[in-house]
Amino acid sequence: MIEVENLSKTYSGVHAVRNISFHVNKGEIVGFLGPNGAGKSTTMKVLAGYLPPTDGKIRIAGYDVITESLEVRKRIGYMPENVPLYTDMRVNEFLRFRAELKKVARRRIKDRVETVKELCHLKDVGSKIIGTLSKGYRQRVGLADAMVHDPDLLILDEPTIGLDPNQIRSVRDLIRDLGKHHTILLSTHILSEVELTCGRVLVIHRGRIEASDTPANLTRLVRGGGSILLEVKAPSADVVARIQPLPNIEDVEIVLPGTGDWTVAKIFAKPGVDVREDIFGVVRQNNWPLRELARVKATLEEAFVELTQD
Ligand SMILES: Nc1ncnc2c1ncn2[C@@H]1O[C@H](COP(=O)(O)OP(=O)(O)O)[C@@H](O)[C@H]1O
Ligand SMILES: [Mg+2]
Repeated sequence: MIEVENLSKTYSGVHAVRNISFHVNKGEIVGFLGPNGAGKSTTMKVLAGYLPPTDGKIRIAGYDVITESLEVRKRIGYMPENVPLYTDMRVNEFLRFRAELKKVARRRIKDRVETVKELCHLKDVGSKIIGTLSKGYRQRVGLADAMVHDPDLLILDEPTIGLDPNQIRSVRDLIRDLGKHHTILLSTHILSEVELTCGRVLVIHRGRIEASDTPANLTRLVRGGGSILLEVKAPSADVVARIQPLPNIEDVEIVLPGTGDWTVAKIFAKPGVDVREDIFGVVRQNNWPLRELARVKATLEEAFVELTQD
């Protein structure tokens, strides 16, 4: 559905995107992750045909973004970072207006507007002025706008930005629903949402793609896939001194230092090695009272930090 080859975008000397290549297949929901300034919005604007690339080739559903831009626009629903809504229009009026702009056939407009209102849970606010709606509703109006011409592909730039946890959850459920019939590329900073929604993640950093994999595989890549959480009644310096020299230990991090009392430590081992028995041996030798010895899986957040820290 999306084919990007050697795409670069420079803004008067600023290299926002540097020679990136990636594919998104039909039916995928792909999370586009990266720190602020990484190049996510730039890439999405170029894909949506709102900015010309400086270099590279992009095809959407087989059509060239530059030479066949009309065909491409029919197939893309793009929701920009700051949804530009007409705040003094009513929701119905706005969606009809947008459908006309996007050349939806006159006889289909009413039907399309009703369908997207239904999908985005906007039925009860159709006659409200957009400016009076809460942020969560406005975000859904933006999404309805992106979908009004029934595109195959949705490109959503931070669709959950500025929403509260309940609204985030509702937009997440909506995106999952939409993913049943659409291909979706979405950028976000809410990594727990990505783990629940996206089959694949693209990580971009300083204009370059650093990773492209499933959330599960990315977390497996970081620090052997996880750590051991240990809580014992002992000074933290002793915990480090006794655990660090064990075989296969890569790092011991103190989470909460004990002042002669309890210490919480995160222990990283070589990939694939289970060091819990050795750690328990040390605990027993030292007669440390033990509260917890558990395996903790790496999170997507840890993978993100590892991939995008300088
Ligand atoms: N219109 C612009 N003019 C000049 N530089 C820009 C413009 N838009 C973005 N940039 C720069 O391009 C880089 C990538 O920005 P952007 O694509 O917005 O990143 P992201 O969406 O990942 O936060 C940043 O260094 C940003 O400052
Ligand atoms: Mg952005």
